[in-house]
Amino acid sequence: MLHIHALEKRYATGDRALKGISLDLAPGEIVGLIGPSGAGKSSLIRCINRLVTPSAGQVAFLGRDMNPLSGRQLRAARREIGMIFQEYALVERLTVMENLLSGRLGYTAFWASWFRRFDAADISRAYELLARVGLAGMENKRADALSGGQRQRVGIARALMQQPRLLLIDEPTASLDPKTSRQIMRLLLELCREHQLAAIINIHDVVLATEFLPRIIGLRSGQIVYDGPAAGVDESALTRIYGDEDWSALTQRMEPAAASPHRAEALAPTAALAVASS
Ligand SMILES: Nc1ncnc2c1ncn2[C@@H]1O[C@H](COP(=O)(O)OP(=O)(O)O)[C@@H](O)[C@H]1O
Ligand SMILES: [Mg+2]
Repeated sequence: MLHIHALEKRYATGDRALKGISLDLAPGEIVGLIGPSGAGKSSLIRCINRLVTPSAGQVAFLGRDMNPLSGRQLRAARREIGMIFQEYALVERLTVMENLLSGRLGYTAFWASWFRRFDAADISRAYELLARVGLAGMENKRADALSGGQRQRVGIARALMQQPRLLLIDEPTASLDPKTSRQIMRLLLELCREHQLAAIINIHDVVLATEFLPRIIGLRSGQIVYDGPAAGVDESALTRIYGDEDWSALTQRMEPAAASPHRAEALAPTAALAVASS
């Protein structure tokens, strides 16, 4: 469903953030994108929905080349690509419900979406999603009154409002404590499963990534240096991705493939409703 070929990004500053990235994503496939800070993780996912314009190479989404799209066509393609950010990108002074209905920041000018007429179907979908992410009854709370975990749940529900086929998720747990991070990862995997969504999740926590995500892509200096199963992320792969270090303590904390209940869960039938409210 997503085909990336020889993708390059050179910023105006001269930084070469991406140097020939090629990868394919199947429908419903979930991949963790890991790598050191500055490796190009954010640039890569932003090139996919054209928040950043690639310098060269191809991005094809659902069989359609994204590069020549503009205006109405680009907006239509982006509707099928949900985006979730580390810092949630909520409008602080608006309520949870208003944040859900106001669309996805970074895509539409805020006021343009605000003046859109919200129809009954949108509102009932918003209530359903809020319940699903564990925020039932919170619709009138202001965004700035929520905890980090709750804010990320709003960000997730908002991304699902437009019924995307692909989720691009940039460091969803970077601002969260370890327990909340795990709850958020679990929720994301369940939702991808329920909605048959493909996802690319940028995540700098290797242990969390390999525990929850079946396929890992390792990025270093704008190039893919690992693409394979989470179980294959061993000391040599970590050295390729992050450089020389004694990785034994870290790999000991990573569960072997068959032992991770969460990765298995991602392949199992739909899991139960999340009710956590952290
Ligand atoms: N808007 C930008 N303008 C100039 N350089 C940028 C911009 N965004 C990222 N970069 C550079 O591109 C490289 C990759 O950054 P980024 O994609 O943010 O990596 P990551 O998300 O893995 O930390 C870095 O060298 C960074 O400084
Ligand atoms: Mg980043």
